[in-house]
Amino acid sequence: MPASGHAVLTEGVVKRYRKKGGGEERALDGLDLAVSPGTVHGLLGPNGAGKTTAVRVLATLLRFDGGRAEVAGLDVSREPRRVRARIGLAGQYAAVDEALTGRQNLEMFGRLFHLGARRARLRAGELLERFGLVEAADQGAEEYSGGMRRRLDLAASMILAPDVLFLDEPTTGLDPRGRGEVWDAVRALVAGGTTVLLTTQYLDEADRLAHRVTVIDRGRAIADATPDELKDRVGGDRIEVVAADASGLAAVERAVGRAAGGGLVVTDPLTRRVHAQVADRVAALTRVAGDLQDEGVAVEDIGLRRPSLDDVFLRLTGRGTGGDTERGADCGPGAGSGPRADRGAASGSGRGAGPDAGARDASKAVAA
Ligand SMILES: Nc1ncnc2c1ncn2[C@@H]1O[C@H](COP(=O)(O)OP(=O)(O)O)[C@@H](O)[C@H]1O
Ligand SMILES: [Mg+2]
Repeated sequence: MPASGHAVLTEGVVKRYRKKGGGEERALDGLDLAVSPGTVHGLLGPNGAGKTTAVRVLATLLRFDGGRAEVAGLDVSREPRRVRARIGLAGQYAAVDEALTGRQNLEMFGRLFHLGARRARLRAGELLERFGLVEAADQGAEEYSGGMRRRLDLAASMILAPDVLFLDEPTTGLDPRGRGEVWDAVRALVAGGTTVLLTTQYLDEADRLAHRVTVIDRGRAIADATPDELKDRVGGDRIEVVAADASGLAAVERAVGRAAGGGLVVTDPLTRRVHAQVADRVAALTRVAGDLQDEGVAVEDIGLRRPSLDDVFLRLTGRGTGGDTERGADCGPGAGSGPRADRGAASGSGRGAGPDAGARDASKAVAA
């Protein structure tokens, strides 16, 4: 059992990078993080938040400038070699050699980790089985789908059965099926006792995999909660309607208001977009579509969406995920994150927001 009782613990970790034109950037600016053993812990944040830097620091690949970090009960600065013996690391950029088969890749990693030929072969066989790659074992990795390659990458990071596994955006760029395959593989690992620290830009990924989530922004933790707590703060599913023209906006507002059952309705007159949180997504969609049709109101778009990282960010920070650009909540989408094309909606300050709700919203919000 680690001294601190945590599989990963950071206190006030600072990492500075020198910027090209002089000056420096604090990629980690006092990061606090505590990961319980045997769990999946999500590190959720937009591009540039410091996720990869945190993983590289914890995996001893990068020295840091201040604070304290512990992995598997070992001090990362003082005992990097012992830390390395206890961890695995897999990333967005797979280390797989395309010219080799899946089995050959794993045997090669085994040899790199100084397993003898026989043990490397045995371990490769076990891992191929564990990650559902037995049938494809002797195919070239170049023939693998995205999901299969990530699983092979995961398998490679598990050669030494690490106590703590770092996964840096393991599903970024994968199609839904590939993501599902990787999620299953991660669940299997944790069932086997491994602790996983997983970085992601996807709220739904954190929701499905993580027991606990730390939201990170500009190198600092801005929230630490269970996925359910996080979703409660952000609010549930939303219905979104874009009126075809300004004259229909009021009618759309009323229809959405009825479906929202008296909840807050947010209107952005510029984009003619109206949205609100709903309890029953399908019932709400059916009702709004029916009402608007009955009233003859033209609609450009209507749909449902689940809360995204952008919604989390708006709620926690009052701005989108647009990295270093300070923006109000009404100024459209942040850059470069989010799995679906559902960003860009102005988010209103819903009811029941926590005391940390900083979301400003210049959109007109009306209680229906
Ligand atoms: N090698 C580097 N040199 C200078 N700045 C860097 C370097 N790596 C990352 N950064 C900066 O540090 C910040 C955090 O980056 P990173 O940890 O990669 O974030 P994330 O993984 O969350 O996208 C970003 O602003 C990034 O531009
Ligand atoms: Mg990264």
